[in-house]
Amino acid sequence: MKPIVTFYDTKPYDKIYFEELGSSYPFEMNYLESKLNKKSAILAKGSEVIVSFVNDTLDQEALQRLEEAGVKMIALRCAGFNHVDIKYAKDRFLIARVPAYSPYAVAEHTLGLILTLNRKLHRAYNRTREYNFSLNGLIGFDLRNKTIGIIGTGKIGQTFMQVISGLGMNILAYDPYPVKNSDIHYVSFDELCAKSDIISLHCPLTKESYHIINRESISKMKEGVFLINTSRGALIDSEALLDGIKEQKIGAAGLDVYEEETDLFYEDYSDTIIQDDTLARLITMPNVIVTSHQAFLTKEALKEIANQTLKNINCYFTNTPLPEQVIVK
Ligand code: NAI
Repeated sequence: MKPIVTFYDTKPYDKIYFEELGSSYPFEMNYLESKLNKKSAILAKGSEVIVSFVNDTLDQEALQRLEEAGVKMIALRCAGFNHVDIKYAKDRFLIARVPAYSPYAVAEHTLGLILTLNRKLHRAYNRTREYNFSLNGLIGFDLRNKTIGIIGTGKIGQTFMQVISGLGMNILAYDPYPVKNSDIHYVSFDELCAKSDIISLHCPLTKESYHIINRESISKMKEGVFLINTSRGALIDSEALLDGIKEQKIGAAGLDVYEEETDLFYEDYSDTIIQDDTLARLITMPNVIVTSHQAFLTKEALKEIANQTLKNINCYFTNTPLPEQVIVK
């Protein structure tokens, strides 16, 4: 009998490539729609391996219950692991991730948010559908000669720099661990805030980067600055962001992530009353676009996520060492 691998938080688009690529592996997939948390951990009973995504909650309680259910390996089908209590998990489970699947997917989505917000395509789209062909309120600016500040120059930050290289912008960067021997123009965090017309976040969520965009850093930014976050929601203090938008200090915000997204994103709440007033207020703003953590969502990225996750799981079942860069310690 083939061992069963339990997947949490699975949507139809997740299954496509796991089904296509998974048929040749010596294990079966059991896809659950529910997110992983302390209540749903018990559903893993009978599986030594579970597969988890970004909005699952792998806190100590959930991990304890997974352990009681007999789980030995957690295969994250994502790059980030800020949602896992690593300190507790590291000696109890083998944890693998997919460190890179398509930096282009996220970088291109970031550019999409900037272009849409600047040229107000979201508003134009709604207007022309109602035969409103007025241009009032739709003025943008040339990106050429403007300054963009990139926070975090890892795989996605660097790919994003390549993607925008044809736009004629001045590109500044901040990273506490700069890329050695590169021609990236690094500046201090404060200088980046002070000089940038657009700021884009591409760093992981850590203790140090939590609320890196807050009231103080916003106060140092240019009037009308665009803030783009395709990394992790809690990099931005959402209340401070909302106030910055209301005061018109912040000219626009493109948010693919939100600090309280866990219970909302990936689900359809169009029939309910959203209780998160900050998110609801942000969404009412004409100069804010919220996408629900979809920057990764391209065919290429989904295929690579499935490919690498299946390989990681297969290493577990065949007792083969996992490649160093996929192990979370
Ligand atoms: P990476 O590990 O290649 O690069 C992260 C960079 O951030 C590194 O250069 C690191 O030195 C830098 N960094 C660390 N702490 C920092 C700080 N406090 N301030 C500024 N920079 C700091 O990661 P990668 O692949 O480029 O991904 C970046 C982030 O993008 C991930 O951590 C994840 O949160 C997010 N992401 C979002 C996705 C989405 O669908 N919206 C999909 C994939 C990743």
